[in-house]
Amino acid sequence: MRLGPYNFERPFLLAPMAAVSEAPYRQMVREMGAALAPTELISAEGLVRLNARTLRYLRHDPAREDPFFVQLFGGDPARMAEAGRIARDHGARLLDINMGCPVPKVTRNGAGSALMAEPARAAAIVRAVREATGLPVTAKIRSGLDARSINAVQVARALEAEGVEAIAVHGRTRAQGYSGRADWSIIRAVKRAVRVPVIGNGDVARREDVERMFAETGCDAVMVGRAALGNPWVFRELGGGPPPTPAERTELILRHLAEQVEHYGDAAAGVRAFRRMLTWYARGLRGASCFRAKAVLIETLDGLREEIARFFGTAEHDGSSGSEELAEL
Ligand SMILES: Cc1cc2nc3c(=O)[nH]c(=O)nc-3n(C[C@H](O)[C@H](O)[C@H](O)COP(=O)(O)O)c2cc1C
Repeated sequence: MRLGPYNFERPFLLAPMAAVSEAPYRQMVREMGAALAPTELISAEGLVRLNARTLRYLRHDPAREDPFFVQLFGGDPARMAEAGRIARDHGARLLDINMGCPVPKVTRNGAGSALMAEPARAAAIVRAVREATGLPVTAKIRSGLDARSINAVQVARALEAEGVEAIAVHGRTRAQGYSGRADWSIIRAVKRAVRVPVIGNGDVARREDVERMFAETGCDAVMVGRAALGNPWVFRELGGGPPPTPAERTELILRHLAEQVEHYGDAAAGVRAFRRMLTWYARGLRGASCFRAKAVLIETLDGLREEIARFFGTAEHDGSSGSEELAEL
């Protein structure tokens, strides 16, 4: 797949996920075989106001994350253009526009999935951000607002007319949130309607799913979200590689913890943020619920390290896929 000046051999991307797609995790999944890993959605308003918390989302190591791929959300073309410039000046080399987020805090301001109801404004945002930044701009859309307004094809055509570089399609409507099964036929319909690369998204967890996604939709690349929670190895496995050994798993989790703490610049904040990651890492392993109950009470870095080494060093799969827990999201 080609995006602007970049050519990607491997057809897998990590999906943008709030509070998950942080720099340490993005770097790790790229090492595991994801071609790209965008940031989580970042508020254009926060960037334009130079809000310190929002700017923190742009922190990354350019040597390990090249090209740096930033997802923005916002409803106003001029503000999005300004935010795009700020992201570019902080190292962004690819920009994605969020057109799928269903959270009211986002849609209230005409951003996220609200843009699915206004293809002309969605297209104006792509145009404004491209013109302001000169960077390749992609978009991530849903199938539509609800079952009666499936309009991904119309939106995709409007975005293509304004020079969007690629379109990721999550095969669910806004009304569906994350429930039910993703409808891949809409990904196929978009692929047939536009010439730019189409990235298929929704319910891919295994190699068989990838093969089926390519065969059924003709998409150019596949984006993986929930199956990658606490499972950076999923990208290696999707490419035909082996699952992790317990030793490898433990080593990587400890490395992730160390990098998370460094990223936050504060052990207590890093530990707090990492406990959530640990619940994902434990998914599908025997004794996971007991481990989680213990881990959420640990406040210190050393305590957390010890508990990780103890549990993951010997943990075995409990035979479930862990997908019941994913369905709860
Ligand atoms: C915890 C979580 C956070 C998410 N945050 C974002 C986000 O910041 N931006 C976005 O475009 N989509 C976000 N999504 C949606 C995912 O990118 C993806 O479209 C969705 O999970 C479907 O893919 P999957 O079936 O592989 O999980 C989020 C999903 C989850 C589960």
